[in-house]
Amino acid sequence: MRVSVIGAGYIGLVTAAGCAHDGHSVVCIDTDKSKVDSINQGTSPLYEEGLDELLSHCVGVAGNLKASLEHQDILGTDISLICVGTPSNSDGSINLGDVREAARRIGHVLGRKKDYHVVVTRSTVIPGTTTDVIIPLLEKYSGKRVGEHIGVAYNPEFLQEGRALKAFFNPDRIVIGEFDKKAGDILAGIYQGISAPTFRTDVTTAEMIKYASNAFLATKISFINEIANICHKLGVDVYQVVKGLSFDYRIGDKFLSAGIGFGGSCLPKDLRALVSASSTKLGYPAPLLRAVLDVNETQGLKIVEIAERKLGDLDGKKFAVLGLAFKPNTDDVRDAPALRVVRVLLEKGASVKAYDPEAMENAKAVLPPGVEFCNSAGEAIAESDCVLIMTEWDEFRDESLYKGRIVIDGRRALDPRKAKALCDYQGVCW
Ligand code: UGA
Repeated sequence: MRVSVIGAGYIGLVTAAGCAHDGHSVVCIDTDKSKVDSINQGTSPLYEEGLDELLSHCVGVAGNLKASLEHQDILGTDISLICVGTPSNSDGSINLGDVREAARRIGHVLGRKKDYHVVVTRSTVIPGTTTDVIIPLLEKYSGKRVGEHIGVAYNPEFLQEGRALKAFFNPDRIVIGEFDKKAGDILAGIYQGISAPTFRTDVTTAEMIKYASNAFLATKISFINEIANICHKLGVDVYQVVKGLSFDYRIGDKFLSAGIGFGGSCLPKDLRALVSASSTKLGYPAPLLRAVLDVNETQGLKIVEIAERKLGDLDGKKFAVLGLAFKPNTDDVRDAPALRVVRVLLEKGASVKAYDPEAMENAKAVLPPGVEFCNSAGEAIAESDCVLIMTEWDEFRDESLYKGRIVIDGRRALDPRKAKALCDYQGVCW
């Protein structure tokens, strides 16, 4: 199939590379020239395991993937996948600016296309967006009828950064929300080579499945952090409690790692958007989901409270911050708990030496001046008064790195028993 992907961010690039790997002919359209140039040289503009190799193969060897600045390239394709960002507005509501712009541009181009074309949204959008926003824009700018000349579908992505390609090729499920059946059939054709349960439904249900999925994952994390905080006061290890829980098949052991809480470009933003849309548009204040956000907000700064208990006034204290990415195996620092903690430490007059194996450039771009970026964990740790482990990269898991130091572990990166034998070790909630 001939596929156009609109947006070369994490989701767009992984989708484009995944489709090309599966034999489709793909053009990835983005307005950022540096990204387009990088892709056309077979190099990924972002860090994601396996993506560089796959892009280099599809662009350079197979020749079935290219990037472009021109939306008119949509004309040579059968299906367009909208994969643009949907960031938060300052009040937490979803910003659909890029989605609207994509729909306008696609509509404009499709006004000139004779054959039926399918438009699929993969960006996370508030339920109702496809029918209330995307379809009207496509019809307005193309002058054509959706359901007749243009097919429309919503196809949520469930990719986790750091293992996004694996998740693309081995998904737990494929959800196809179809406005018209023909669009759903054509979209299903993209995934022909992938073996996974496929659930076909209407577009608004598919949009809600995406939100419900992220809201549930976030709820699991805040739930276990709340249990961990209670356990900590009792002197009970929450990780042992989770082991005991996990034998119940209804509960399992996934997404129950207690620590400094969830960050990233999805869980916090999507939860805020769902709470905002539910409260303002539907009149339902979503108290449980608000509590999930509140627990996460408080959890993120517990590590600073512990440091204050251990060191007293933080003014003039020297911190080593290990890990800046919101989780390991990515260079993404969006809504990363580490960034918030670094800002608070600086406000309190502490000095910060930071290290992350992949996320330093992205962190440098958003952190205030005053942070010293190091070339290794050892360099950051040397001469520090206190080490904070903010991301559980494998290279931080070596207890011998911390000999004689005060260490506060936000991610259960270390084995507490081994660490306590070597340093002054404290888990954030264990
Ligand atoms: C999340 C979802 O997991 C994906 O299914 C979804 O497709 C994606 O958002 C999206 O909407 O695009 P992602 O943001 O890549 O994926 O990251 P997660 O693996 O979900 O981790 C989110 C945060 O939760 C991280 O900061 C992680 O450290 C934290 N976390 C995760 C915990 O604190 N405890 C856990 O047990 C698991």
